[in-house]
Amino acid sequence: MNAKQPAKQGQHPLEKASCREPKREDSRLRILQAMTDPRFVPPPDVYIPDASAEAAARAFYEVMRRRRTIREYSDRPVSRETIEWIVRAAGSAPSGANKQPWRFVCVQDTDTKRRIRKAAEEEERAFYEQRANDEWLADLEPLGTDPDKSFLEVAPWLIVVFKLIRQEDGGQVYYPAESVGLASGMLLAAAHHAGLVTLTHTPSPMTFLSKVLDRPDNERPFLLIPVGYPADDCLVPQAAITRKSLDEIMIVR
Ligand SMILES: Cc1cc2nc3c(=O)[nH]c(=O)nc-3n(C[C@H](O)[C@H](O)[C@H](O)COP(=O)(O)O)c2cc1C
Repeated sequence: MNAKQPAKQGQHPLEKASCREPKREDSRLRILQAMTDPRFVPPPDVYIPDASAEAAARAFYEVMRRRRTIREYSDRPVSRETIEWIVRAAGSAPSGANKQPWRFVCVQDTDTKRRIRKAAEEEERAFYEQRANDEWLADLEPLGTDPDKSFLEVAPWLIVVFKLIRQEDGGQVYYPAESVGLASGMLLAAAHHAGLVTLTHTPSPMTFLSKVLDRPDNERPFLLIPVGYPADDCLVPQAAITRKSLDEIMIVR
């Protein structure tokens, strides 16, 4: 079969094999599937901006440049539906061999948030008092961060992003850190686009999140992201606003 020719229903050479009931993990079948001829279809739902590429790119930048990491939250509720759309946006990210090696555990339960705050503050106290070296502490100083993580109880949602190091059935994943990083960036963009604020929090180490949220061995905590509205009187560190210029970050050859 011509690899680029769209496959017709019932034509797939492995369909018979995949109908068979696998009694246990069958890695041979998986390898065989990976070796199958690719099927191709036209890209579904192509997005075409209603402005020129330049105007659309600039408009997106004008939205994104106003995203800010926020550490003071209002307790104003955010609907579950909003969070679901944001997670769908994150889940639309590209990933190595399309393995989608991510899980987004969305926490709104008060007691679970309290347990996460308590464990995060314990780790953060050890970080600020012992683990962080002098250069790291000096770099954090202008941001004014400290071990107090009260926002973890105030924000209506905590989205805990987990990176899969294996699939549930033991199958491999590829470039999980790159993939989950991209998905997380899209999650932040989606929340910002919805008028919400976030914080990319990385209490170090984050292993307590696996325990508190009862996650399986194939998942590793990646980011802890409070999502909500900013507190009325919230402030952001001046040092976080400045950005490198285009000349500093872009090279054209
Ligand atoms: C991977 C990563 C980890 C971060 N970890 C923390 C953190 O643990 N605590 C915190 O307050 N901010 C954390 N931040 C937020 C950064 O300090 C913030 O993005 C930076 O100062 C720029 O500010 P802006 O996001 O408002 O542009 C983290 C950001 C990233 C991307």
